[in-house]
Amino acid sequence: MLSTQIIRNMSTANRLSQIKKLVVIGGGQMGSGIAQVSAVVGNEVIIVDQNEELLAKSRSTIEKSLQRVAAKKYKDEPEKGKTFVQESMSQIQTNTDAETAVQNADLVVEAIVENLKIKQDLFKSLDAVAPANTIFASNTSSLPIRDIASSTKREDRFGGVHFFNPVPMMKLVEVIKAPNTSQETFDALFTWSKSLGKTAVSCKDTPGFLVNRLLVPYTAEAVRLYERGHGSIKDIDIAMKLGAGYPMGPFELTDYVGLDTCKFILDGWREAMPDNPLFDGSPLMDKLVSEGKLGVKSGEGFYKYNNKGQKM
Ligand code: CAA
Ligand code: NAD
Repeated sequence: MLSTQIIRNMSTANRLSQIKKLVVIGGGQMGSGIAQVSAVVGNEVIIVDQNEELLAKSRSTIEKSLQRVAAKKYKDEPEKGKTFVQESMSQIQTNTDAETAVQNADLVVEAIVENLKIKQDLFKSLDAVAPANTIFASNTSSLPIRDIASSTKREDRFGGVHFFNPVPMMKLVEVIKAPNTSQETFDALFTWSKSLGKTAVSCKDTPGFLVNRLLVPYTAEAVRLYERGHGSIKDIDIAMKLGAGYPMGPFELTDYVGLDTCKFILDGWREAMPDNPLFDGSPLMDKLVSEGKLGVKSGEGFYKYNNKGQKM
């Protein structure tokens, strides 16, 4: 008689072999990166976004990133590099209709705006049409997975996969087990993350998981430090790069992540935990976001950027 553990492993293996068809909802910075690294390992990927223009931008971002990867990986074999880019791109389709896209999905990863209600509405509509065995996951930076999952009737097949920006370069994925996530779903998400060449860590469903719980208060305090007149934006960035060995200073990093995303994270945590000064807001961040100065993706945040995303 097969042991429960063996049956569980077999069932996990079956599930794993089924995670071949990925749908990524939201083809922005993170969705493009997640689609890219999945396509590279042979997953069939569909990216969904709100219109064809955004989808074309997503494909172009992925192609450029693949070319950077190929330039290193196949330094002395440009033809192989070309094939690598073409084959990876051929794994990716696009669609503006999420409900159609998820019809055959093994896994749906959501990477849309950091807003609970919008994420819940999306998953509620997908829950009604996706196959029963499709796993849902969110790439949220800060929202409780349990709150997003509660909009569906598949909380056991719902977890978190938190990737880092830029996805092709950052080696970590935080895999989140919400209270109702089944062990089988968690295992499938964990192994799928590793299959992308990433290191996966297991996280409880707590605000900001591990990385952002440390990183977001740090970048927010840098903005408040500047607002208090303790240092210039440039000097604070130089200080943290040269004094602490960070690859980017806190203002460069906030521009890179997106000021809107950073503000949504902080606002949400402040609302939930109003007495914690780590989550205090910043008039400067509020002003920049209200002016549409969202960082690299909009061409201006704390710094200005050209259309290649380089600081001017
Ligand atoms: N695709 C492919 N390759 C890329 C790339 C991309 N999008 N971005 C950078 N690269 C590659 C470049 O080709 C380059 O390769 P070589 O060194 O072999 O030439 C290498 O990365 C370095 O790039 P650059 O020289 O352009 O710039 P850099 O040395 O500053 O590195 C960086 C860029 C990897 C982004 C680095 O600055 C870095 O690690 N920054 C910190 C990023 C970080 O902290 N991310 C986490 C943000 S928080 C988050 O994501 C969670 C959240 O929920 C908000
Ligand atoms: P982004 O603004 O670059 O991209 C979001 C994309 O989602 C846009 O293209 C938008 O058109 C699309 N979108 C919005 N609503 C949609 C809907 N209902 N259906 C389909 N597409 C929709 O944002 P991003 O930086 O990629 O962040 C996406 C998510 O990933 C957020 O939850 C964010 O907190 C999280 N995240 C961001 C980072 C980061 O560094 N930027 C890192 C990790 C996690």
